[in-house]
Amino acid sequence: MASTRRTGEPHDAGKRPGRRSAAKPARVSPGGGRPGESPPGAQSTPPGVDRLQSEFLANISHEFRTPMNSILGYTKMLLKGSYGYLNEQQQKNLRKVYENAQHLMGLIDDLLNLSNLELGRMALQMVPVSVKKVTLSSLVSVEPLLVDRVLEVEHAIPPDLCPVLADEVRIKEVLINLLNNAIKFTPDHGRIMIEAAMVTPPGEDAGKVEILVRDSGIGIPPEHHKTIFGQFFQLYEPEGSDYQGVGLGLYISRKLIELHGGSILVQSEPGRGSTFSFRLPAAPATG
Ligand SMILES: Nc1ncnc2c1ncn2[C@@H]1O[C@H](COP(=O)(O)OP(=O)(O)OP(=O)(O)O)[C@@H](O)[C@H]1O
Ligand SMILES: [Mg+2]
Repeated sequence: MASTRRTGEPHDAGKRPGRRSAAKPARVSPGGGRPGESPPGAQSTPPGVDRLQSEFLANISHEFRTPMNSILGYTKMLLKGSYGYLNEQQQKNLRKVYENAQHLMGLIDDLLNLSNLELGRMALQMVPVSVKKVTLSSLVSVEPLLVDRVLEVEHAIPPDLCPVLADEVRIKEVLINLLNNAIKFTPDHGRIMIEAAMVTPPGEDAGKVEILVRDSGIGIPPEHHKTIFGQFFQLYEPEGSDYQGVGLGLYISRKLIELHGGSILVQSEPGRGSTFSFRLPAAPATG
């Protein structure tokens, strides 16, 4: 069938609604470099330059956020009909503008997070957080990624599970990153599950809450269980494949969980799905 894209009509940069599909910075190739380290053979950066680069990235990403928020806000109002009626074609094209602006905003947020993490400027707001509430709001955030997909997405959070002591915004970011990956790397008719349970690690008195994101997707070979947590690491070239992204989600998630004093783990076998898990301290009971 002939293409319906007319000459002069802009390309739709994002394949699916949701996060990022923007231009790509240099990527560590599979097998090259441990998480957070430069690839072998890379020239070392002079002292101070890393910091300057992070400062520059932090400032520029921060500056990008204001106009992007305005683009998103006005586009949303136009879509809602606040400035008058839009015909079907206008709505369709404006929705593409909105989705691509969201992709870009996701990338800007990643860069801002990355530079703030590198600069040690990420201050956590530790408060008791309901695991069920943060799970449900993360699932709402990834809903656009599930349009046109045939995936079973479920959650199993015990109703009496105690809250965790954490920064709600950051934990939501981690869950969105893990869900985003689970959705991306699980073919249609697969299953994604978020689970949480109280655990008491041996030798520790205080209980922890373990949160798991399981998928029945393509899985990860054992030799990459560490490298996937590095910066700009991707197992598949997004060009020519259906997988979009820049390889930052797991690196940022690992750093955010480490800031909470925990670690993020993966269990996975090629063709048999993946389970990502992390533990957070249970919030002390009040009253
Ligand atoms: N659930 C998963 N199943 C299979 N492979 C995965 C899964 N999660 C991550 N990976 C592998 O680890 C790589 C790194 O993941 P990460 O989330 O950091 O980057 P990305 O998803 O490619 O891009 P971004 O998160 O920046 O959009 C992925 O490109 C993929 O190869
Ligand atoms: Mg990702």
